[in-house]
Amino acid sequence: MPRPNPKFSSGRERPTPLWLWCAAIVCTIITLAVIIAGIVTFIGYLVIHPRVPYVSVIDGHLDPLRIDYAGILQIQATILIRAQNGNKKAHASFSHSNYTLSLNGEDIARLVAPPFEVSKNSSVDFNYLVQSSPIPLNPEQAQNVDTALKRDYFTLDLKGSARVRWRVGRLGSVRFLCHLDCHLHFHPSNGTYIPSRCTSNAK
Ligand SMILES: *[C@@H]1O[C@H](CO)[C@@H](O)[C@H](O)[C@H]1NC(C)=O
Ligand SMILES: *[C@@H]1O[C@H](CO)[C@@H](O)[C@H](O)[C@H]1NC(C)=O
Ligand SMILES: *[C@@H]1O[C@H](CO)[C@@H](O)[C@H](O)[C@H]1NC(C)=O
Repeated sequence: MPRPNPKFSSGRERPTPLWLWCAAIVCTIITLAVIIAGIVTFIGYLVIHPRVPYVSVIDGHLDPLRIDYAGILQIQATILIRAQNGNKKAHASFSHSNYTLSLNGEDIARLVAPPFEVSKNSSVDFNYLVQSSPIPLNPEQAQNVDTALKRDYFTLDLKGSARVRWRVGRLGSVRFLCHLDCHLHFHPSNGTYIPSRCTSNAK
């Protein structure tokens, strides 16, 4: 006579306890809520179509470089930074704008701006007039500057960031940093800025 297999004891199974049913229903409701919230957020995103605000260098000018007999360089330049908010429905607040201008790794000036707002679908330009402190050049650096003048191609580095707070419709506000890290090139002979990509926009 075959003994009953303990693995198939379906006939003697006890009914599922009530608390387990409740747990399953609660889990189902939570799962549905998460899915619906996801769909609503996604549709909201598509409707509002947010465009991430960004900063970029759009123009500049380098005044004639002055090197005195002792090998001390002074730089004066204009740098135009634009904060862009392409959103049609959200405005953006920029704060802690803080950029450092450097020459061959040596900081020569700091560009800061007070907090400001960029309204919907617009931009704000900051025209920074940068005046370096006197930079004593060692012979090698003097040589580099000389070479740059001969090649008519002078490079300054700009690094820094601004904080952005950005309200995306009713979905809440987003905070992030706009980073700039780029080389700015100029023709020292006439001070012209040579346009190159310098933007915090990831696109
Ligand atoms: C800008 O950033 C530098 C460091 O990167 C910091 O030393 C300086 O205090 C900052 N300036 C302002 C005004 O936040
Ligand atoms: C956004 O700005 C651009 C140009 O700056 C303009 O052509 C466009 O019509 C504006 N859109 C809205 C919705 O204001
Ligand atoms: C400045 O000089 C460069 C090269 O010497 C030249 O290509 C450029 O057109 C000049 N720009 C202006 C505004 O004269």
